[in-house]
Amino acid sequence: MRVVLNCVAFAVCFSNKTLFSLLYFFSFCCDAVDGWCARVFNQVSTFGAVLDMVTDRVSTACLLVILSQVFLSLLALDIASHWLQMYSSHKDVKDSTSWLFRLYYGNRIFMCYCCVSCEVLYIILLLIANNQTENLLNVSSLPSLLLCLLSTQLLMKRTAHLVLSRIMDTSALSRYGEPKVLSFETPLHRNTLFSAMSKPVAIEVYNPNGKYRVVSTKPMPGTRWINLLVDQGCRVEICHLKKTILSVEDIIDLIGNRCDGVIGQLTEDWGETLFSALSKAGGKAFSNMAVGYNNVDVEAANKYGIAVGNTPGVLTETTAELAASLSLAAARRIVEADGFMRAGLYEGWLPHLFVGNLLKGQTVGVIGAGRIGSAYARMMVEGFKMNLIYFDLYQSTRLEKFVTAYGQFLKANGEQPVTWKRASSMEEVLREADLISLHPVLDKTTYHLVNKERLAMMKKEAILVNCSRGPVIDEEALVNHLRENPMFRVGLDVFEEEPFMKPGLADMKNAIVVPHIASASKWTREGMATLAALNVVGRIKGYPIWSDPNRVDPFLNENASPPNASPSIVNSKALGN
Ligand code: GLV
Repeated sequence: MRVVLNCVAFAVCFSNKTLFSLLYFFSFCCDAVDGWCARVFNQVSTFGAVLDMVTDRVSTACLLVILSQVFLSLLALDIASHWLQMYSSHKDVKDSTSWLFRLYYGNRIFMCYCCVSCEVLYIILLLIANNQTENLLNVSSLPSLLLCLLSTQLLMKRTAHLVLSRIMDTSALSRYGEPKVLSFETPLHRNTLFSAMSKPVAIEVYNPNGKYRVVSTKPMPGTRWINLLVDQGCRVEICHLKKTILSVEDIIDLIGNRCDGVIGQLTEDWGETLFSALSKAGGKAFSNMAVGYNNVDVEAANKYGIAVGNTPGVLTETTAELAASLSLAAARRIVEADGFMRAGLYEGWLPHLFVGNLLKGQTVGVIGAGRIGSAYARMMVEGFKMNLIYFDLYQSTRLEKFVTAYGQFLKANGEQPVTWKRASSMEEVLREADLISLHPVLDKTTYHLVNKERLAMMKKEAILVNCSRGPVIDEEALVNHLRENPMFRVGLDVFEEEPFMKPGLADMKNAIVVPHIASASKWTREGMATLAALNVVGRIKGYPIWSDPNRVDPFLNENASPPNASPSIVNSKALGN
């Protein structure tokens, strides 16, 4: 339609060269102002926009100087460039901080109407100048009417969307503090107003002119990760969608049609669909903000050549400390006692009131003595003088040496020495330990590792702690076991079907439940965000992979620039790095 109208306008105008020259020059000035404003409002010039500017200038110069037949072909080029622009440019203008610019550029259809209106105006002016007013009605009536109707409809929708966005704006600001640049927009490839209105998405944008587009599906703690990405030339987009767990569709929307990397969360389902979308958008990297990555289909990522990062080394102690907290809270019945006090039930000291278990001298069992399991074991052995029994496919020599040395120290000081034992089976740990903490990775082999039969092997007054992944325990069997064994206690940070608990669990007094907060210390969470961001940007920039993903201190030092490397890419070998 735009092309046709352009052609009609130019054909009519060509008979009056002077007037047309003036009108065209005026249009050129408008275009120049338009381009200048777009730059002032931080917009990225895209191919179509550049071509448009160049051809406008060339064709206008030619028009003014030559006014010959050659001019017609230049006009054709100009028209083509406008047409191209409709499809290829102004994507980034949608993030402008000015509502007026977003209104105009943010919707290509609306922009198209504006251009067509201008062209109809050209014809009308020309007809008036040539005293052909009797033809005015023919030119203006039908298209103008249509335009009026459509533009009004569009404007109304757009206004409603803007009002909605402003409401989100205020609440996001109060929750997250003042960001450098805040814009509220639909994801980039959503162009229709309807989709925008059905699901308004708040996107916080940093460094809009950045070369690489990196999306974080959630706001993450601290600002260092944002600054590091911006310093490396990334445009950072943070999703503030008010929905705890984003669906695959939500994330596809966020990825849009151009995205270099994504930082995601362990609640998201990163499989074939998302890696395919990320790859189509030109993406090279994804990083979980987590050490565990059972939510990621690494095979699918390999297929699309996308690097998968995780964040080991920064949450070891924090997670072990929560496991220790749950152990103590369960042993000493802290949560039950707290509830009792708050309910006003305390009438005075009693010999039997909330009697629990003494840990000193008892046996702590660790299933999975990797980084976190070993740190937990050391805490319990050193802090509470517990003996250790552990089960792991690999021998933990460092842990064994530590317990031996500590035992010797205690003995030298006239105390009962602590001991260690590497169990030959998991069952051995379950049978012998008084307190058992689970630290395996979740995979097919560890699903329902603790089931009805294995629960039955444990001591009646044992304590079970789980800070690994929910499905490692058969939660239904656990509820029954807790019901039948009131002295058996459990401390859970993770659940089989998060965010839900299996029926009955919430009513169990002998269960302590917390919402997956094992890594939730400020230092750790900020560090996880930093490592995830560096994983993504490292891959985008083609940096090498860090040699030891557990020794990540150089990346976490706030007073120095991090090494030019990706801290931890789990599929680096499969990708040939
Ligand atoms: C938390 O659960 C993590 O895996 O980082």
